[in-house]
Amino acid sequence: MRVEGKEYRSIWHEPATDQVRIIDQTRLPHHFEIRTLATLAEACEAIRVMRVRGAPLIGVTAAFGVYLALRENPAGLADALAQLQGIRPTAVNLRWALDRAARTLAREPADSIATRALRFANKLADADSACCEAIGEHGSVLLERLWRGKTRRGHPLQVLTHCNAGALAAVDWGTALAVIFKAAAKGIPLHVWVDETRPRNQGAALTCWELRQAGVEHSLIVDSAAGHVMSRGMADVCITGSDRVSAAGDVCNKIGTYPLALAAKDNQVPFYAALPLSTIDFDWSSMAAPIPIEERGAGEVSMASGIGADGEEAEVRQYPESSAIRNFAFDITPARLVSGIITERGVVGANRESLLPCRERD
Ligand code: MRU
Repeated sequence: MRVEGKEYRSIWHEPATDQVRIIDQTRLPHHFEIRTLATLAEACEAIRVMRVRGAPLIGVTAAFGVYLALRENPAGLADALAQLQGIRPTAVNLRWALDRAARTLAREPADSIATRALRFANKLADADSACCEAIGEHGSVLLERLWRGKTRRGHPLQVLTHCNAGALAAVDWGTALAVIFKAAAKGIPLHVWVDETRPRNQGAALTCWELRQAGVEHSLIVDSAAGHVMSRGMADVCITGSDRVSAAGDVCNKIGTYPLALAAKDNQVPFYAALPLSTIDFDWSSMAAPIPIEERGAGEVSMASGIGADGEEAEVRQYPESSAIRNFAFDITPARLVSGIITERGVVGANRESLLPCRERD
């Protein structure tokens, strides 16, 4: 991703200093800050407090966390895996990355295990970036077709997205936003409706920031405005990311995605999820079976933070402490509401028959 004219990834290793570095997403959009992860504990903290977030990036950060642990203690593999597992329970990419790390490193001798872990993490990061770019390519073909089929030719294609499924949510490019970036690069005129995405406002804080960096025209709306926008014919397509897809094509994603898909269906707006195949959990047969849905602290709902009129960072209480608060972070959109799944191998149907051939064999 290009930030103020310079190329960045969301996470990377600097060989010269042997440092793992991240863009600290808790500081955006007001401050662009790079942070060093020096230990496993710091990697765990970064995932927990969401300095790094988004399903693919959580997985890659965990892989670098394993490296940091083994650099300090070559016998620390099992402990590192145990500490990282379950920090963010919904995104399957965390488990996916740790399973692969465990398999790769299980029989590695102590004197080479850290080097091997670093090679593994770097490879995972490179593969994620290439995979997201391919998602963007495939999705941009879809957007071009939608744009060419628009009855009001000459008007930009109107895309609605939720949360942040951009370069910040992966190593680079992103998933839903990769599709938008690639379509924009092809010269397809676009306007993006960005859902605010309460309560952490990843849409407002991160997606708007990324679209601005990339020069893509966009407007921020509150989450509850999405249905209105669609009912007035102001959205041609919805594209979101996903944290876990069932073998039957049900899409678990940031809270608020399900009502978005319902409104899309009611208004004949196609709804797509863009994701790497690593996000499909073939052990999750369908939404009839439970998966862990992360529930986060009440403070994310009751408090708001930002920049005050004096230019200083401020945190304010919006709601009384006396009311009970439940803060569900994800919901599940049934496959019947999903028009298709945009992957690195192309657009596939949100159903068992289409997804099964995508299963990795390893
Ligand atoms: O809680 P977050 O910010 O990690 O949630 C992120 C999302 O829900 C994204 O849509 C999803 O991870 C896909 S990111 C490519």
